[in-house]
Amino acid sequence: MNLTWTDEQQMMKRMVRQFAEEKVAKAAEHMEETDEFPREIVKEMGELGLMGIPIPEKYGGSEMDYASYILAIQELSRVSAAVGVILSVHTSVGTNPILYFGTEEQKKKYLPKLASGEYLGAFALSEPGAGSDAAAMKTTAKKQGDHYILNGSKAWITSGGEADTYIVFAKTDPSAGSKGVSAFIVEKDFPGFHVMPKEKKMGLHGSNTTPLSFEDCQVPVENLLGKEGQGFKIAMANLNTGRIGIAAQSLGIAEGALDAAVAYAKERKQFGKPIGMMQGMSFKLADMATMYEAAKLLTYQAADLVSRGLPAGKQASMAKMYASDAAMKITTEAIQVFGGYGYTKEYPVERFFRDAKVTQIYEGTNEIQHIVIGNHYLRD
Ligand code: CAA
Ligand code: FAD
Repeated sequence: MNLTWTDEQQMMKRMVRQFAEEKVAKAAEHMEETDEFPREIVKEMGELGLMGIPIPEKYGGSEMDYASYILAIQELSRVSAAVGVILSVHTSVGTNPILYFGTEEQKKKYLPKLASGEYLGAFALSEPGAGSDAAAMKTTAKKQGDHYILNGSKAWITSGGEADTYIVFAKTDPSAGSKGVSAFIVEKDFPGFHVMPKEKKMGLHGSNTTPLSFEDCQVPVENLLGKEGQGFKIAMANLNTGRIGIAAQSLGIAEGALDAAVAYAKERKQFGKPIGMMQGMSFKLADMATMYEAAKLLTYQAADLVSRGLPAGKQASMAKMYASDAAMKITTEAIQVFGGYGYTKEYPVERFFRDAKVTQIYEGTNEIQHIVIGNHYLRD
């Protein structure tokens, strides 16, 4: 068993850490104040080759392994969870469905633009009435001549209004449950496609989350992804690996909070000595660091399986569930280490705490991850 990174992976980690500390950190402050989407950062990520890390070179990507991609998400999220999720959604569920299920024409048309960052990708599965129970979606797609006509609405779409392409799921056969769902590549300017005003969120400021509305939206038949009825499997297959991206985002948030807490515990003095010298504080930091390391091992294991082309659904759900819970616990404790100062905006730990919460909710809540993991042992 080899637990060391390759030279290429270490290079990626160093490069993204430098970019995150030099560029993203400054943008994160601005995003926090204004909730503005970081368009310039996305452009720079494209120039650095980050928007297509695991995409083959023949489609314009960097053709690096999945573990390198996971390292990049972690490094970005250590500084800004919002930038981390923009990249994760773009790649894992916004681009990969085309790579794995697209026709050659679809790959040639969309992948080079997505991999270079000229296009930003999004994924539209959830609906106002169908979140965890994704198969209960109400959006429909009816074939009429050389178009599908989509009607309905989607909720909580990351990069809504900023993305150029949306992988949209709709029912071509509403009577067939999950087997009646189909997937489509929808471009932002297709007639009948509308982006609704963005949500006002607790955290992840700068990452747009919007509802979408489809009113007789015309999608050319050649933009059906996979076959009719294959949509639910496409969604689940991409979430299987996508969830590792959220695990990596959680790791980044946890690492940012842990680094800040350790530095503060060394510097802040009470009772004549640094608070880190008190056993009550050092035990806390030891627990935080141990949870972080355990989350790291689960996440890197899942990423390594994907890099080697092996099934990783169970490990991805375990990594997402454990790492997001670890991030919540570590960020909560980080605020405690900072005392009253941790409760103010003077330090970044309160932002890490607010950003950590959503990792327990999206890409399948942690209750849903329990179901997925349980099914691996009890059903399959
Ligand atoms: N991988 C592959 N196939 C899967 C699968 C998986 N993980 N889970 C289910 N399937 C297949 C099943 O094998 C089954 O196929 P067959 O009928 O051919 O056997 C079919 O899909 C239906 O399976 P179920 O009956 O188990 O489906 P269900 O309706 O009970 O739902 C669920 C299962 C796991 C709860 C699923 O609905 C789910 O994952 N829900 C959570 C939704 C989610 O994760 N949304 C994330 C949106 S994206 C996002 O959030 C992005 C972001 O925040 C940044
Ligand atoms: P519900 O499904 O209504 O769940 C409410 C509660 O009930 C949760 O605690 C849940 O765990 C629990 N629950 C539900 N069913 C069960 C069960 N069977 N057993 C036990 N407990 C259960 N979606 C997209 O498609 N694309 C995106 O890009 C996207 N980005 C997002 C960004 C943000 C910031 C947020 C907040 C959400 C995003 N989502 C996105 C949606 C996200 O995936 C859903 O919010 C999530 O799947 C939960 O759905 P819900 O909010 O409808 O909650």
